[in-house]
Amino acid sequence: MSQLLERMTSVLWLALASYILTLSSTEQQGYRNSTNTGSYEKDLDCGAPGTPEAQLCFDPCQNYTLLNEPFRSTENTEDIQGCDSDKHGWYRFVGDGGVRMPEDCVPTFRCQTSAPLWLNGTHPGLGEGIVNRTACAHWSGNCCLWKTEVLVKACPGPYYVYRLEGTPQCSLRYCTDPATAEDKCDRTCRPEEECRLVSGTWGCFCRQDLNVSDVHSLQPQLDCGDTEIKVSLDKCLLGSLGFGDEVHAYLRDGNWNCSSLRQSEEENWISVTNPTQAGACGNILERNQTHAIYINTLSLVNDFIIRDTILSINFQCAYPLDMKVSLQMALQPIVSSLNITVDGEGEFTVRMALFQDQDYTSPYEGTAVMLSVESMLYVGTILERGDTSRFNLVLKNCYATPTEDKTDPVKYFIIRNSCPNQRDSTISVEENGVSAESRFSVQMFKFAGNYDLVFLHCEVSLCDFIKEECQPSCSRSQLRSEGVAIDPARVLDLGPITRKGAQSLGVMSGTPNTAGFLVAWPLVLLPVLLAGLF
Ligand SMILES: *[C@@H]1O[C@H](CO)[C@@H](O)[C@H](O)[C@H]1NC(C)=O
Ligand SMILES: *[C@@H]1O[C@H](CO)[C@@H](O)[C@H](O)[C@H]1NC(C)=O
Ligand SMILES: *[C@@H]1O[C@H](CO)[C@@H](O)[C@H](O)[C@H]1NC(C)=O
Ligand SMILES: *[C@@H]1O[C@H](CO)[C@@H](O)[C@H](O)[C@H]1NC(C)=O
Ligand SMILES: *[C@@H]1O[C@H](CO)[C@@H](O)[C@H](O)[C@H]1NC(C)=O
Ligand SMILES: *[C@@H]1O[C@H](CO)[C@@H](O)[C@H](O)[C@H]1NC(C)=O
Ligand SMILES: *[C@@H]1O[C@H](CO)[C@@H](O)[C@H](O)[C@H]1NC(C)=O
Ligand SMILES: *[C@@H]1O[C@H](CO)[C@@H](O)[C@H](O)[C@H]1NC(C)=O
Repeated sequence: MSQLLERMTSVLWLALASYILTLSSTEQQGYRNSTNTGSYEKDLDCGAPGTPEAQLCFDPCQNYTLLNEPFRSTENTEDIQGCDSDKHGWYRFVGDGGVRMPEDCVPTFRCQTSAPLWLNGTHPGLGEGIVNRTACAHWSGNCCLWKTEVLVKACPGPYYVYRLEGTPQCSLRYCTDPATAEDKCDRTCRPEEECRLVSGTWGCFCRQDLNVSDVHSLQPQLDCGDTEIKVSLDKCLLGSLGFGDEVHAYLRDGNWNCSSLRQSEEENWISVTNPTQAGACGNILERNQTHAIYINTLSLVNDFIIRDTILSINFQCAYPLDMKVSLQMALQPIVSSLNITVDGEGEFTVRMALFQDQDYTSPYEGTAVMLSVESMLYVGTILERGDTSRFNLVLKNCYATPTEDKTDPVKYFIIRNSCPNQRDSTISVEENGVSAESRFSVQMFKFAGNYDLVFLHCEVSLCDFIKEECQPSCSRSQLRSEGVAIDPARVLDLGPITRKGAQSLGVMSGTPNTAGFLVAWPLVLLPVLLAGLF
């Protein structure tokens, strides 16, 4: 066994261009065209050659008789001698007795008959068309005392149809395998599973005759989520590759105990989940101009004792860079967040951050922002938690104050009543009220005025775009007229932003510097107030 495992050591690559990848299955072959399988058309049943009906063809998957006869079950031992001499045409078995004929010899006096008929051969796969099989009747110690031809086709669904042409004798009857009864298992078993009765309950269990030797048939599934990356592996295929029941996973950091890693098992999938975070269990974060890419390697071993890596799977998730992703990537972004409850719609979280670039993908990090007067400040606001399919984010009022106090009477408005301050030509509102994001930029010196420290405040609201017009209409005339009522419970605050060249002043620290700063107030209040009034 261990030799086999060592030989299997190999690496699978999963690469991913965007959000969710589900590796396409190779099982789905579709329908191949006919090759040589005998006298009849492979996929269709046609009339006998040489007769006028030869041109009349139909697909047996669409034209069959249902047989819901649980007494056909190979487990049925009641002593009644039924016969199938009246069965001519295409049939599909359904119900508790099973949906497929057994592929092994059936003991006599089963299936409500004397000599049960079973299929000596395997069922065809989807796409193989109509195949010719021999049905054998077991009697008098001979598993194949009587034989008859049966045509079988696998249909999408999946299910099977059989063409039966009576029976060579009575009492002979076509059996069904109760293990294949569809409604016994509460889901459709995958091809590598079978529906079995184990300790009193039916379930999809890994097929015992599974024989997989190529690791590439493993086809891991990768799910690149906003907050988590999940890799799932088929436990049946892993088992067939030599992994026992106890499979343990770890990531690049090689730490079995990595706290953010979660391993779970469901429906014969082994899933490993790790946060979409740089550094989490060895996550490597790479970044190009357009994408943030998280890279890691999943290693699987059979148990804790054998430490040799048996199977490694490289995977990566690429996320298009946007405000949200860049904030998630940043270690210590300068953000503020606010929870807003909308009656009957639940709670929403809005985040506001300062960015360095006009793409809004490089947030400022650290504890403070220092800007030269000529530099531009980019402010992005995102609706992060909540139903973004229903609501747009609207910046109603954004203003700078020289103190942390959002109700400071000294306010320099950047956005007022959802519209940009027309007097400040450096203000550009790129997005407001049209999506779950709002963005604007402004040049530092304008709103900073003569102050060395400024704080930024934005009052936000959520707008139901189905019910109302969310995009503000900003014409010059209406700008002055309306007063501004700001709800402090809806205000996000950021700061301080320090003007470069200014002395770094402690906020509320009571140092002489702060005092000097405060003394300077009356001198500079006036221009700011005027600007605040537009
Ligand atoms: C399949 O066979 C039909 C005729 O039997 C032919 O017209 C068709 O082109 C074939 N398709 C392919 C994919 O070979
Ligand atoms: C269905 O099959 C029967 C024979 O089994 C045939 O007579 C009938 O024409 C077929 N119907 C269609 C719609 O193909
Ligand atoms: C099935 O194949 C056998 C020989 O392999 C042949 O004798 C028989 O006629 C075929 N049955 C049908 C229905 O084509
Ligand atoms: C089933 O068919 C194979 C080949 O077609 C034959 O060798 C075998 O003996 C058959 N099984 C029984 C039990 O007759
Ligand atoms: C599995 O299949 C390979 C070839 O595909 C074969 O050599 C091997 O004997 C099979 N093993 C089992 C247990 O059936
Ligand atoms: C995992 O934790 C166990 C005990 O909790 C410790 O003995 C072991 O060294 C840890 N392994 C790693 C790789 O940190
Ligand atoms: C960035 O990486 C993604 C994902 O790997 C790729 O699709 C994209 O082309 C890359 N962009 C650039 C500019 O290299
Ligand atoms: C907002 O709500 C979330 C979830 O309930 C919570 O984790 C977070 O701390 C809250 N944030 C604030 C600023 O209250």
